[in-house]
Amino acid sequence: MADAPGIDQPERAEKPLLAVLRGRRLDPPPVWFMRQAGRYLPEYRAIRARARGFLDLCYDPELAVEVTLQPLRRFALDGAILFSDILVVPHALGVEVVFVEGEGPRLAPIEGPRELARLDPTRLHERLEPVYETLRRLRRALPPLVTLIGFAGMPWTLAAYVVEGRGAKDFVRARALARREPAFFAALVEVLENAVLAFLDRQIAAGAEAVQLFDSWAGVLPESELRRWCIEPARRIVAALRSRHPEVPIVLFPRGVGANLLHYRELGANALALDTSVPMAWAARALEGSEPLALQGNLDPVALLGPEEALVEEARAIVAAAAARPHVFNLGHGVLPETPPERLARLVESLKSGCGRAM
Ligand code: CP3
Repeated sequence: MADAPGIDQPERAEKPLLAVLRGRRLDPPPVWFMRQAGRYLPEYRAIRARARGFLDLCYDPELAVEVTLQPLRRFALDGAILFSDILVVPHALGVEVVFVEGEGPRLAPIEGPRELARLDPTRLHERLEPVYETLRRLRRALPPLVTLIGFAGMPWTLAAYVVEGRGAKDFVRARALARREPAFFAALVEVLENAVLAFLDRQIAAGAEAVQLFDSWAGVLPESELRRWCIEPARRIVAALRSRHPEVPIVLFPRGVGANLLHYRELGANALALDTSVPMAWAARALEGSEPLALQGNLDPVALLGPEEALVEEARAIVAAAAARPHVFNLGHGVLPETPPERLARLVESLKSGCGRAM
């Protein structure tokens, strides 16, 4: 079938992912995956075995570049996300962070006002310099049409880990502390917000062409708390980045917020990433009028563990539901470690061959 009317063709040499984040509709949509570099790839596991700890891998530009490029060698992806972790920010502020094999991150928790002094922003960039170096090298190494994506965790999600000292099911300690000692919690969030902004600013200076802001635990907060700890910081960070780097698209990923997603439309971001629970058709309709805001997502990562025909059909339905919007295809959360790489290959092929077009 000829391209549908109203669907823009990318101009020669324009990166498809950047074009869509800037408000163009493309068919097929550009695609990348959260956690596209990771344990599901044998070549990642091989590199991971060579680094001492996970953070050593994040701070080794040579290995981090290699791991970032691995999925691009297998799949025709439009984006390369910096290989790092959201917890490098608290780590660079002086919080001890270790990743325990099979269990996830462990942090030396900050539980009260007196411990705030343990956060020291003065060496932030010095400690994060290997991340900036990774970006500089990636910018030189990437294929010409691939967009380099930087990222950071948002202050609430980082604060939740810093207070709990680990991942938690619903972060009750962090939520209770935010209500019991709001002044302390606000001070903690402010330190993190400033660090996140400075980190993203430097990532862009080092070559990131778009940035994604992960608020992975926004979904545990009710509306009023969400406004205070997630939406207002997001508004400030977007505004500051926008004024310093007007040309760099910003993607917000407030995971699990449900209908509160609609509050994110006014923040000035270029795109909202949807988690698996948000119906793409609902978001496309509910956000009508906020064009050129792009939508990203949101295939269930578990669909990659099921039969191939159902996977392709589910992807097709998402592309169709997003057809009226600038759309970046992605998952609703990260690629799972048990994902067969061949399934991702099949998914990308079917997207690139136009699986979403009207039959
Ligand atoms: O490919 C990419 O997406 C880029 C790299 C990336 C990682 N983490 C690598 C990683 C990105 C963007 C992240 C973001 C991240 N990290 C988030 C936000 C997204 C989300 O998942 O909600 C969060 C909450 C973290 C914190 C984190 N890092 C946890 C909870 C864990 C343990 C769980 C796990 O899967 O092991 C990590 C570890 C981590 N980050 C791994 C990778 C590839 C696995 C570590 C290993 O190789 O042993």
